[in-house]
Amino acid sequence: MDELLTKENLELRELVRGIANQHVRPVAAELDRTGEYPWDVIKALQQNGLMGVWIPKEYGGKGMGILNLCLTVEELSKACGGVGVAYAVNALGSFPILLGGTEEQKKKYLPQIAEGKKLIAFCLSEKSAGSDAGSMKARSEFRDGMWVLNGSKKWTTNGNAATIYSVFTTSNPDRGSRGITAFIVEKGTPGFTIGKREDLMGIRCVPVHETHFEECHVPPEDMLGGQEGRGFMHAMMTLDWARPGVAAQALGLAQGALDLAVAYTKERVQFGQSIASNQAIQFMLADMATQVEAARQLVYAAARAIDSGAKSVSKIASMAKVFATDTAMRVTTDAVQLFGGYGYCRDYPIEKYMRDAKITQIYEGTNQIQRMVIGRALIKESSSK
Ligand code: CAA
Repeated sequence: MDELLTKENLELRELVRGIANQHVRPVAAELDRTGEYPWDVIKALQQNGLMGVWIPKEYGGKGMGILNLCLTVEELSKACGGVGVAYAVNALGSFPILLGGTEEQKKKYLPQIAEGKKLIAFCLSEKSAGSDAGSMKARSEFRDGMWVLNGSKKWTTNGNAATIYSVFTTSNPDRGSRGITAFIVEKGTPGFTIGKREDLMGIRCVPVHETHFEECHVPPEDMLGGQEGRGFMHAMMTLDWARPGVAAQALGLAQGALDLAVAYTKERVQFGQSIASNQAIQFMLADMATQVEAARQLVYAAARAIDSGAKSVSKIASMAKVFATDTAMRVTTDAVQLFGGYGYCRDYPIEKYMRDAKITQIYEGTNQIQRMVIGRALIKESSSK
């Protein structure tokens, strides 16, 4: 339904599609095999001014909003899910600054990200604080005019590729989620180290690391928003804005797998005819395409809600995330099925889509957590009617 997109949306999509075809598709399998970071792709995106699509113009970005961010992520992910997240995680990492940072923090950090000079990561989860993000243990204490960070973070996507990190800590464990305070920490700050790299099932070109803080001194001006205890709220607001991006990654993967499945079933001949001539296969493709289109409309609706300035976007963002990522898992699994034995084999590109899709149901809040967010919102809305 291109008719629902603006000229600006379509031009951006065309630009990203060209970059994906030229710089991502030819190397996707190799990046998956080697685990190398897609620096050439980042460079191409940077040269085309795309590292700051979502960053407002006053901070050096394109000011094109979340729908355009989603279109960019979708196109990249259609070619490679790993590249899609390597790009999208810069939005996740920079949203805390955009949504909760002081004017000075926005002016200092956002232009560097928009220019593509620096990549940013998001450090929220810990070994024992995943879904229950508020139970984090990483500690921040104010001592002799500096904040001192101690503790470790898990699942830092873009880990060693990033140079700026949005880091969430507890500065007052007695206050639970109201005691959480976030900081902007730069690579090279003494006491901050990048730890073990995870060996992942999919999105293998993106380094996901543990990050460690040991007596890491951060100046007060790098406390996010300049106020203690507001970190959890900023993390939740960030996730509301970022979840449509994960949904767009899933959407791109689903569309990419569907495109490959249609092409393959037309080519593959069995019993003297293409397997696409069989109604059983056409029905599978029809269901896949219908689910992908439904996911697309929900993802774009969530992105448009954010762009419109809507006050509460948690429910629609979670709905988009659940629906698009569950769709991606179903569609990529069916696509593997349509490739038969070849689908299970790394000589063909399709199994990578299924591996890349799985993480989208898990990160930035498991789909069980998304359903919890949706359920809580429904109950809250019904009591205010
Ligand atoms: N916007 C603003 N504030 C919010 C909010 C939102 N969307 N959601 C909650 N809050 C506020 C609440 O109003 C409340 O404030 P008060 O204390 O002032 O009343 C406070 O936050 C606590 O809210 P809850 O009681 O609802 O919090 P909870 O502990 O029950 O947790 C949760 C809620 C939704 C389960 C949340 O913990 C959550 O989203 N968990 C999943 C975390 C997650 O997504 N992690 C992924 C990290 S990123 C990643 O995967 C790695 C990567 O790099 C890609």
